Amino acid sequence: MSTDIRWKRIRVLVTGQCNYRCPFCHNEGQKKDSQSTNMSLDEFKTLIDYLKDKSIIELAISGGEPFIHPQIVEMIQYACLNLSCDVSCATNLSLIKPEQIAQLSNTRVKFNIQYPYTEKEKFSRSTGVGDVNKINYNINLVKAAGIELGLNTVVQNIDPDAMSKLIFFALAKQVPLKLLPQIGGKESDKYKYWVFPMIRKYAVSERDKGTGAIRWIITDGKKQTSVLYIDSPCFSKDIETCRNFGELRIHPGLKTQTCISGSLKDSLDFTETDDVVTAKLNELWNTFKTC
Ligand SMILES: C[S@@+](CC[C@H](N)C(=O)[O-])C[C@H]1O[C@@H](n2cnc3c(N)ncnc32)[C@H](O)[C@@H]1O
Ligand code: SF4
Repeated sequence: MSTDIRWKRIRVLVTGQCNYRCPFCHNEGQKKDSQSTNMSLDEFKTLIDYLKDKSIIELAISGGEPFIHPQIVEMIQYACLNLSCDVSCATNLSLIKPEQIAQLSNTRVKFNIQYPYTEKEKFSRSTGVGDVNKINYNINLVKAAGIELGLNTVVQNIDPDAMSKLIFFALAKQVPLKLLPQIGGKESDKYKYWVFPMIRKYAVSERDKGTGAIRWIITDGKKQTSVLYIDSPCFSKDIETCRNFGELRIHPGLKTQTCISGSLKDSLDFTETDDVVTAKLNELWNTFKTC
């Protein structure tokens, strides 16, 4: 039995490329250029094979836009088959094809869909090229296929009208809504002061998850869903909460990154024994003590 890793959440960035142009995008700490490489299927599978007997909570697949990767379906299927943890995929849902939805319908993947606004004009401005009607259509296809999904909204400015529409949309569709105040935004740490009262008007329960996130169950009397607000530890440089959340990013080339704004570290070398790789990852955990 090999030793376990301290990191409980792994975020794999399968590509740096994206078809959207969201002005707020941190691109998961990757360089924003069209030359960005994809993670190879072999790299991805080797990583999953290593993680098989580790007690991780979640493997989150992200990018860039994961559905730009020609082998994304195979990657998701491989992760679901070989890991026992949650498997999620952050996607803008603009490129997914009906046949890919069908192929993924018998996996346990959860889609976290980047959904900035319900309004056509604002959605298009916030994504550069996105069409909210097309995304709503794809959301219906994904739901009908029985794939779990949630909406991820980056809160970019003070816009109670847009927030109210989002809350109603999430309730009407009964899909969980995750609110992410923009990392790198000037006033992001203060958005909670106008967002929380809006959520609390519909809340039947509220729980501080202790990971920098607050979760509500909301209802309009007929329908019910959840709202999660990520009060990012980045805002207060709260390294303890960040370590509790403990997300390790793995970039194409199997390069590691402990903090979204930090530099890339060495590549993982899976020609080494399992114990040597684990020791390297645990060293990254042990030395991750400052922002
Ligand atoms: C970088 S995207 C990559 C995956 C996919 N293209 C998408 O948009 O979901 C992953 C997540 O990061 C979020 N995100 C991007 N920039 C952000 C920022 N500055 N602050 C907070 N969240 C951000 C996006 O909304 C999305 O939910
Ligand atoms: S869709 Fe995702 S990766 Fe692409 S620009 Fe928007 S947030 Fe960034």
